[in-house]
Amino acid sequence: MIDRLCRDHSLSCDEYELLLDSQTPRLAEYAASRALEARKSVYGNTVYVRGLIEISNICKNDCLYCGIRRGNQSCSRYRLSEQEILSCCDEGYKLGFRTFVMQGGEDPFFTDELLCTLIKKIKKAFPDCAVTLSIGERSRESYETLFAAGADRYLLRHETADSNLYRKLHPESMSFENRMQCLNNLKEIGYQTGCGFMVGAPYQTNRSLAADLKFVEQFRPDMCGIGPFIPHAATPFAGFAAGALQTTLFLLSLLRLMDPGVLLPATTALGTIDPTGREQGILAGANVVMPNLSPVSVRRKYELYDNKICTGEESAQCKSCLERRMESIGYKIVTDRGDRKPFSL
Ligand code: SAM
Ligand code: FES
Repeated sequence: MIDRLCRDHSLSCDEYELLLDSQTPRLAEYAASRALEARKSVYGNTVYVRGLIEISNICKNDCLYCGIRRGNQSCSRYRLSEQEILSCCDEGYKLGFRTFVMQGGEDPFFTDELLCTLIKKIKKAFPDCAVTLSIGERSRESYETLFAAGADRYLLRHETADSNLYRKLHPESMSFENRMQCLNNLKEIGYQTGCGFMVGAPYQTNRSLAADLKFVEQFRPDMCGIGPFIPHAATPFAGFAAGALQTTLFLLSLLRLMDPGVLLPATTALGTIDPTGREQGILAGANVVMPNLSPVSVRRKYELYDNKICTGEESAQCKSCLERRMESIGYKIVTDRGDRKPFSL
């Protein structure tokens, strides 16, 4: 089945489920070797970097898994000023970043007006850089306005393609349909769009994960962010186990085989559940890393889950740490916007 996925870039939902059910170290190793071939044919041994700026941990939502959910009263809240964000970009540019990802909770303070001013200033100061937004669900008009101001990419994990599971992970005020509508809007508007999901979320089954794979196959995102679920002590999911490293790696390989050109990050969550998780992610087929560019003073506060790594390090330390890590496995971080390379399926 792995060979067929390599060739056709598509399987049925039942076949994805069967693959996940029959996951063994040997099968995963085979999938990873084929995924690496696919990755190398498009991206060689290069790894793209994105500078992640965590602009606010204030969120109007209450996702049950998330450490910065509205209901977490022990979370000490912050939002970065325009000046602070621009300084992060400045520092990042000097370090060789050519993509800035502004991520945050759904913080109503960040109006379209404020964001447009910010995006225009970043694009003016760093015209050779891409701006990625990851600030949750907004209206179609808002996405259009931000795109017109110069935003290039948008990351909005779909979280799960299983609507029943979606309801178990989110409060009633949030809807699966709206999340999916947002993703469709982003793509139609012309953003390079990223979806994604957590692996090992509470109540998730292989059937749900198969639905995620089928969704990604059909949606054909430019980017797909996946990482293990990791519990946060101050959320309703505190008592659940974290997602498995091996399953996450296997899924990365399947996603690479499904679309050899997709931009696939080895996430911070992967580096949190295993000290060499990000290296293993690259060796399973990922081709992007996202070191933290946020001011060190706020890093501990953007605590989505327990024991998040890189909260004490300066941006330069994270960049050189990742450079070393990638070199240790024969890969090279490049100074590049890191757009998706063409690959016709
Ligand atoms: N508010 C924006 C949104 O909803 O897309 C962006 C920020 S949100 C905190 C970024 C991602 O963090 C979510 O899409 C979710 O998949 C991930 N996340 C949140 N809590 C997590 C946890 N406990 N373990 C792993 N990932 C988590
Ligand atoms: Fe941040 Fe290694 S990437 S310290």
